[in-house]
Amino acid sequence: MSKQNVYDNNDFFENFQSSRSNDVNFNDCIETPILFGMLPDLHGKKVLDIGCGMGQHAKQYSEMGAESVLGIDLSEKMLQYAREHNSSDNIVYQRMAMEDVDTISETFDIVTSSLVFDYVEDFPGLMRKIHHLMKKDAVFVFSMSHPIVTAWDGAYDRYTRTETGERLYANLRNYCKEGLRRVDWVVNGYECYHRTVSSLINGLIGAGFTIEECQEAHLSDEMRARYPALFGGTIHRPEFIFFRCRKNN
Ligand SMILES: C[S@@+](CC[C@H](N)C(=O)[O-])C[C@H]1O[C@@H](n2cnc3c(N)ncnc32)[C@H](O)[C@@H]1O
Repeated sequence: MSKQNVYDNNDFFENFQSSRSNDVNFNDCIETPILFGMLPDLHGKKVLDIGCGMGQHAKQYSEMGAESVLGIDLSEKMLQYAREHNSSDNIVYQRMAMEDVDTISETFDIVTSSLVFDYVEDFPGLMRKIHHLMKKDAVFVFSMSHPIVTAWDGAYDRYTRTETGERLYANLRNYCKEGLRRVDWVVNGYECYHRTVSSLINGLIGAGFTIEECQEAHLSDEMRARYPALFGGTIHRPEFIFFRCRKNN
């Protein structure tokens, strides 16, 4: 698989857009607060957002004081939405595959990416390209699906449940087998790459990054109790993994 983009599929795009428009969703309640909590001060910084999607983060980076934001994404539909709804004088949206970031001639103080690296085949190679794009002391903050989540191959239920449907525990199979996963999720044949936690860490170290912080998604008991159908499984497994890295030299 190379540079696939399911986000230009009408059904997938509409499902993605409508899930994000609900006030209570995994991104707004879990992923984004953790990601933003790991960002450094953005004032006066040049920011690159890889896989900027509909541009919500880029807009916030601009409002948080970034000098400039370059948002790149492969999907025309996502970029069209970003340009229509999340534009600003200091934001540029550009159609580009993350695999091609080595064609960018600028360097950045901060690189971010939210839930995009699930789609890259060569994770270590991408990390090396990103490292080259960064100034000395620049910071790289990103999230992706947790490897416990991408280990799924569609052949079994994600949870073992009681007779009344309560999630007893999360199921895991073939975690150690890395590579392409093709499953029926929202659309038939949704594709992403599974890799282990150690592969992520070693990909970052191999590119020359210092890992400053790693987090796994967490949620309060109160939110789980309030929305059990949506968030009940979050006690059993972290949906997302997050890293903050620095380029020291
Ligand atoms: C889960 S969405 C996240 C969007 C945005 N970062 C956010 O958090 O709202 C994944 C994004 O990755 C983009 N994407 C997928 N493959 C890509 C690739 N090879 N290069 C660049 N962007 C890609 C999709 O178009 C989509 O916008």
